[in-house]
Parts: sequence; C-alpha cells; structure tokens
Amino acid sequence: MDNPSKISEAGVEYSLGEFDGKNVLYDFSKILIYLDVKGKLLFGNKFKIHKKDKKILLQLCSYFIRDEESCRKYNLDIEKGILLSGPVGCGKTSLMKLLRYIVPLQRPYEMIPCRNVTFSFNHLGYKTIEEYGNNKFFCFDDLGVEPPGRFYGKDLNVMGEVLLSRYDLYVQSKYKIKTHATTNLNAEELEERYGNRVRSRMRELFNLIAFDRESADKRR
Ligand SMILES: Nc1ncnc2c1ncn2[C@@H]1O[C@H](COP(=O)(O)OP(=O)(O)OP(=O)(O)O)[C@@H](O)[C@H]1O
Ligand SMILES: [Mg+2]
Repeated sequence: MDNPSKISEAGVEYSLGEFDGKNVLYDFSKILIYLDVKGKLLFGNKFKIHKKDKKILLQLCSYFIRDEESCRKYNLDIEKGILLSGPVGCGKTSLMKLLRYIVPLQRPYEMIPCRNVTFSFNHLGYKTIEEYGNNKFFCFDDLGVEPPGRFYGKDLNVMGEVLLSRYDLYVQSKYKIKTHATTNLNAEELEERYGNRVRSRMRELFNLIAFDRESADKRR
C-alpha cells in the first residue's frame, strides 16, 4: 500500500512524518524541509522558507493535512477554502502552488488567474461563469484586481458572479467543493469591489489566512 508520508523528488525520498498504516502523524519541521526542496524545484534556487512566514505556513499546512487540533486552534474550518491575503509579492501565489504537493492523494485544485477569467468572459460571455461554476476545485489567483468584464456592451462583475456560483455549489454539495483564492485586498476593499452579498458569502466560503501587512516584497 502507498505510504502518503513519503514523497520522492528527483530520486530522493522525503518523509513528512510517520505513517501507521492508516494515518500520517505529520511532523511540521519535516514538511518544511520538503517544501524548501520542492519550492526550489518549482521556483528556482532563490526560493527558501522565510522565518517570518512560518506562522502562515503552519496554518496552511494544518489546513491541508487536515489536522483537526491545530485547525481548531487557528480557527480554520476544513470544509471551507482558503483566502490567502497579503501585500504585493509576499509569496501568496507561490505558496498556493506549492502546498498542493504535500497532500498528493487529495484532489488537486487548479490555479486560475482572475484576469484570465474576465478575459475569457469578454470573449465568450456567460459560458465562462458556467465553466467555473462546476465541481472542480479552483484557486482563483489575484482576486480583486482583475479588469472589468464586458460582453456585447454589457458590464458584469465576473469574479463576483463566479463566487456566487461557487457559493451555491458549496452550500448544496455533500462533499464540499473547494474554492481557494489569493488577494492583495483587505475585507473592506473586497466588499467595495464585489458588494456585500458576495462579501457575506465569501465569509462562508473561505477561511482567511493573512500575511502581515508589513511582509516584504520577495520580488525585490
Ligand atoms: N519563499 C520564497 N523565497 C524566495 N522567493 C520567493 C518566495 N516566495 C515567492 N518568491 C518569489 O517572489 C516573487 C513573488 O512571489 P509570488 O508571485 O508568489 O507573490 P504574490 O504574493 O502572489 O504576489 P502578488 O501579490 O503580486 O500576486 C516571485 O518571483 C517568487 O518566485
Ligand atoms: Mg500572486
């Protein structure tokens, strides 16, 4: 039987904890070693685990490995998705791309830049809203700064509509569909952009995990 606590990268085996044949007892320090290696493979050698990001990583890992005790501690609901917020360049997109790899047996989510969703809407119209209102798992990247949607002279708050559809699905589905997102905006700014109906549903759809407002831009 497969041992989900062991992951091979480039011929080297990494262990994320102990597997008792049924459950993995994850070890956070081992997960960090693996994330450092995998991050370098995905994003280049300058990638590293920053000390200041460890708190965020602990929350994200607790959520993805479904550690009930620490999720309670961090007030994370395993059924909901993650809204990862933080200033420009702090590493949101990279982390959401990276964290998928610690749980290879879980259904993966697709990273979709929000600007691609509105561009697609501007070409294809309402079909786009349907395309993302399905049972697939998504992480909508860079929510709130996508250009406005316009199709045949009609304006539409495209990501707002997509989130409303995802919310309806989330409420209806027995095995909760997952929607994640990254954003530079804070709660008030999101409400300003999408209105209070969407904002209220976002609270139910997402757990908020926020980088410090002072987090450094890793592009510099
Ligand atoms: N832990 C890290 N160590 C080194 N470089 C990193 C790290 N995380 C991200 N980077 C690099 O910093 C840059 C910004 O990362 P990323 O795009 O993930 O940030 P972001 O928060 O999504 O930014 P934005 O708000 O602009 O979308 C990228 O070039 C990325 O490769
Ligand atoms: Mg980003």
